[in-house]
Amino acid sequence: MDNDFIYDEHWASNYQNFARMHGRIAEVDETVTFLEGYSRGGCALELGIGDGRVAVPLSDRGVRVHGIDNSDSMLEQLAKRTDLVKAWKENIADFKTAQRYNLVYCVYNTFQLLFTRDAQLACLRSAAEVLDDQGILVIEFDVPALEGFVNGQKTTTVLVDHENTILNAHVHDPLKQNLVSSLLWFSGASVRRLPYRARYVYPQELDTMAERAGLKLAERWGDWARGAFTEGSKRHVSVYRRTTQ
Ligand SMILES: C[S@@+](CC[C@H](N)C(=O)[O-])C[C@H]1O[C@@H](n2cnc3c(N)ncnc32)[C@H](O)[C@@H]1O
Repeated sequence: MDNDFIYDEHWASNYQNFARMHGRIAEVDETVTFLEGYSRGGCALELGIGDGRVAVPLSDRGVRVHGIDNSDSMLEQLAKRTDLVKAWKENIADFKTAQRYNLVYCVYNTFQLLFTRDAQLACLRSAAEVLDDQGILVIEFDVPALEGFVNGQKTTTVLVDHENTILNAHVHDPLKQNLVSSLLWFSGASVRRLPYRARYVYPQELDTMAERAGLKLAERWGDWARGAFTEGSKRHVSVYRRTTQ
């Protein structure tokens, strides 16, 4: 099952397009400015580094960035962009390194791709372990949006243009807090299916899990520009500090 959800070559080669469609290329500067402030001139670790959308510009600003990803294809895309960011293949649910970091970050819904509570908790524990005494963990993901499901199913339209129709089909598994999803990408005469599974988490549950991992919420924002987090916020940027030194 795990392997079904590892980003394959097709995902990786189209990743920039998806990120652009979701406005994630346009906001990179703001993201990097936010993260740079917590790096204190030291070393940062990105969990699920992908193709370096965030890590490469952060490294361009002089921050030493390392990264972990479980997809060979995504790591290949990163290697094509830079050799300044050290990245390796590992599971973010259970990683170890002797290095200590000023900043660990996990952005763009990557945390929810760990689709069991145990895996999410293990990820937070591993992150707390590699932070230095003043270290900061930044996590960013969408607030769960469960409206619009009928009989536990929902299909949304991601993009329609002259070349492409991209639909996202979701099935809700409430017992596991999982959305089992498939992006269906019709282009010309071809259709590609990009499956993934996510465990949605409300911010309060994240805080509780973080506390169990030895982390305490320090700040929560509604976006990278430090907009207020409100009941209408569609996502959150949460900043945690270690509770034990
Ligand atoms: C949504 S992408 C985000 C990539 C990058 N962080 C960004 O913001 O553009 C999720 C990334 O996490 C990686 N990933 C997903 N599950 C993982 C796991 N269990 N261990 C390591 N990497 C994982 C994927 O391969 C992919 O590169």
